[in-house]
Amino acid sequence: MSSQLKRIAVLTTGGDCPGLNAAIRAVVRTAIHHGLEVTGVLHGYDGLIAGDFISLKNENVSNILQRGGTILKTARSDKFKSEDGMNQAAEQLKMQNIDALVVIGGDGSFRGAQKFSDAHGISVMGIPKTIDNDIYGTDNSIGFDTAVNTVVQAVDKIRDTAASHDRLFFVEVMGRDSGMIAMMSGIAVGAEAILIPETETRIEQLVKILERGWKRKKTSMIVLVAEGDEAGGAYKIAGEVKKRFSQFETRVSVLGHMQRGGSPTCADRVLASRLGVAAVEGLLEGRRNEMAGLIDNKVIFTSLKEVTTRKKTMDNTLVRIASVLSQ
Ligand code: F6P
Repeated sequence: MSSQLKRIAVLTTGGDCPGLNAAIRAVVRTAIHHGLEVTGVLHGYDGLIAGDFISLKNENVSNILQRGGTILKTARSDKFKSEDGMNQAAEQLKMQNIDALVVIGGDGSFRGAQKFSDAHGISVMGIPKTIDNDIYGTDNSIGFDTAVNTVVQAVDKIRDTAASHDRLFFVEVMGRDSGMIAMMSGIAVGAEAILIPETETRIEQLVKILERGWKRKKTSMIVLVAEGDEAGGAYKIAGEVKKRFSQFETRVSVLGHMQRGGSPTCADRVLASRLGVAAVEGLLEGRRNEMAGLIDNKVIFTSLKEVTTRKKTMDNTLVRIASVLSQ
């Protein structure tokens, strides 16, 4: 591979998730393999503006593949949304002779990256990460597989106590705008109902499903609620249901940030490794302002413009499967 690139920078931005360290390691080792120098940017775009940089060598990314979180730290940056912030960030990159930036982030971060690149001509390559799995241009984003496995483990445990006490549980999982975590983990735990922002939630309909379960002598029931469901969070929905269906004792469990931590699964480690390699080699091939994703098990590059303007949709067959199997 011949290229003008000499030095690249890498950062993690937005909410953390398992697999970020695996992606950082892959970026650093691939870059060094191809003779590039690598700068790590701490604290996401805020660190880019502040010049919070470290030099990364192979040894700096040893023994991090299996760890949750991010050695580079992360942040959601308001400063980077301003013209001033972007100017300062561009100045910092110029001072360090950095030719390209690898952004391990979500669609909000890519929107910023695209704007930054348009304004300052800096080459950007995206790697998709978020437990929510709502980024267009990849089947799975880094972190999703680990998060759903965390949810499955937690809800299996909740099922034990629900069955022992004959209880109905409402379990809230993350997903501000997306029901991917709820849907996937809901199928995996045999949830009686899965409430997601992509489909309309009707309390009367939900009550009918629960009554059906009660009539056929189910001893416990689980309703998975995505936090972004338009009918409200788990507490609100549980309250509404209770007014109409009181056959079971009801409890609510909000899983929260435990979904964002932990050691990445094999699938997330391999995904992060493949995308980290692809991102650097994509830059070396001359690709600019694209995101490396995995579609049908193949690395596919999609322009950041497309990634940030198109919406990933819920697979309706999953909705149907969940409904058929929950009877
Ligand atoms: O975007 C990922 C996500 O985990 C969402 O599902 C959730 O709503 C949000 O981050 C929580 O963000 P914070 O860590 O800022 O509370």
